[in-house]
Amino acid sequence: ISPVLVAPSVLACDFGRLAEEVRAVDQAGADWIHVDIMDGHFVPNISFGPDITRVIRKATGKPLDVHLMIAPTDPYLQAFAEAGADVITVHAEAGPHLHRSLQAIRALGKKAGVAINPGTPESVVEPVLDMVDLILVMTVNPGFGGQKFLEAPLEKIRRLRAMTAGRDILIEVDGGITVETAPLAAEAGASVLVAGSAVFGKGPDYAKPIDAIRAAAER
Ligand code: DX5
Ligand code: ZN
Repeated sequence: ISPVLVAPSVLACDFGRLAEEVRAVDQAGADWIHVDIMDGHFVPNISFGPDITRVIRKATGKPLDVHLMIAPTDPYLQAFAEAGADVITVHAEAGPHLHRSLQAIRALGKKAGVAINPGTPESVVEPVLDMVDLILVMTVNPGFGGQKFLEAPLEKIRRLRAMTAGRDILIEVDGGITVETAPLAAEAGASVLVAGSAVFGKGPDYAKPIDAIRAAAER
């Protein structure tokens, strides 16, 4: 059994009680807190930015896993680093300078992640393997929580698992993770699972869905 980290996405929480919701998933055993940043341009929805990220930072000591669904990315990296991100993930599709963005994240002293959409091949990651700590494979088209898990990207996870063998790189899966789909993602080789609606939609005792997702993935 390989350990699986569960990262609840605060996108699905009650924003009116944001700090309370973050503390609740922290105490319920979340490994990381996933922070979805959307700009209404790279993705067809707007969430929040560095100021709200700072509010989340103050509510928890868990690693903040900041998923930037924005383009351009580089002008905002420093603001998210200063807001308290531990991992900053940029999309490979967000611009022509992935290598530069990853360099900038590491120069800020943060862990660097690269995300790929369902329609993007894993080969885009190969030239930057030396520069990433995490690869995020989207199993929905980004922009909204609560969408149905796509199975086609599972094959990419398997190939990425082989491509990253012997390296210290985590594979994360984001979109449509539930107790039913978590085992598929874990079996393909993911070790960090993001879950939004499958955690925050199953309150108020968030330990139950978090434990259930982890147990399903580790079995
Ligand atoms: C999708 C976001 C996801 C989303 C996951 O654009 O990147 O992190 O919040 O939500 P669920 O788990 O409900 O699919
Ligand atoms: Zn996300």
